[in-house]
Amino acid sequence: MTLPEGNPEANAPAHVTPVEREFAAPPEPSPVSPVFDELTRARTKEIISLYPQSRSALLPLLHLVQSVEGHVSQNGIRYCAEALGLSTAEVSAVATFYTMYKRSPCGEHLVSVCTNTLCAALGGDDIYARLRTHLGSADRPLGHEETAGEPGTTGSITLEHAECLAACDLAPVLQVNYEYFDNQTVDSAVELVDALRSGERPQPTRGAPLTDLRTVELELAGFTDEAAPVDETARVEGPSSAIESVRGARLAEENGWTAPAMPALPPVMPALPEKK
Ligand code: FES
Repeated sequence: MTLPEGNPEANAPAHVTPVEREFAAPPEPSPVSPVFDELTRARTKEIISLYPQSRSALLPLLHLVQSVEGHVSQNGIRYCAEALGLSTAEVSAVATFYTMYKRSPCGEHLVSVCTNTLCAALGGDDIYARLRTHLGSADRPLGHEETAGEPGTTGSITLEHAECLAACDLAPVLQVNYEYFDNQTVDSAVELVDALRSGERPQPTRGAPLTDLRTVELELAGFTDEAAPVDETARVEGPSSAIESVRGARLAEENGWTAPAMPALPPVMPALPEKK
C-alpha cells in the first residue's frame, strides 16, 4: 500500500512490505481478509490519511471492520494490524479493552441497558432481567452480549448491560445502537424490543432516527452509507437535549444567576513530585 503523502511513514524503506502487497492487491478477495472489499480498502486508506501516525487510525478502523463484519473477528484484527503496521497482539489489546468492539457476531440492533447505580435503583436491573428472559427464555435467559435471532438478520438483537450511559437525569435509560430511549419501564422496554424484532425502527427519545448497528459503526468510522441514504434534516432536527438536563441552566438564566468570574491569572498549582 502506498501511504498517503505527508505521512511520516511514507519515508519507510522502498521494499514492498506484506502490508503494501496486501493493499496493492487487485480487488479480488485476499486469502487473509476475504470480506474486506475494494470499497473497504479505499475507506481504510482514507482513514489512515487523516492521521500523522497511521497507528492513530486504529479506533476508527476497528469501527470500519465492525461495520463490515458485524463484529471484530480474528480476520478483522489481522486486517487492522496489516493496514497499520501493528502486531495482532497490539490490535487485540485495543479491541478487547473497549466495550464498543464486539468479538462475536452481533444482531441487527444492539440494545444496551444501563444497570449502573442510579438506573439500577430506578428499574434498570428489572428491565435488564426482563429483557434477558423475554429475548431468551425463562430456562435460558440471554446473557451479556448474546444475540436473539440469527446475527445480522432483520430483527436480531444483541443484548448487553452497560455502565453509566451519561443520562442519569433520565434514568432508567437504554440505548439502541447508541441512540437514547429515556425514562424506560419494564413494559416500554419489552414493547421496544418487540418492535425491533418485527422490523420496526422506533424513534429514539433524542438524537438521530434509528438505523442499524452496522450503519452506526460505519458512521463512527467517519462514513455514511451511500446505498441507504438517510434524511439528513431528520438527523439534525431531533431533540438533542432533555428538559431535565438543561433545567439548571434555565433556572440560572431566569434568576440571573451567573458563575463567579474566572481569576485573571490561573491559580498556582503545587509542584508535582519528580517523575521516576
Ligand atoms: S446510571 Fe444510568 S445513565 Fe447514569
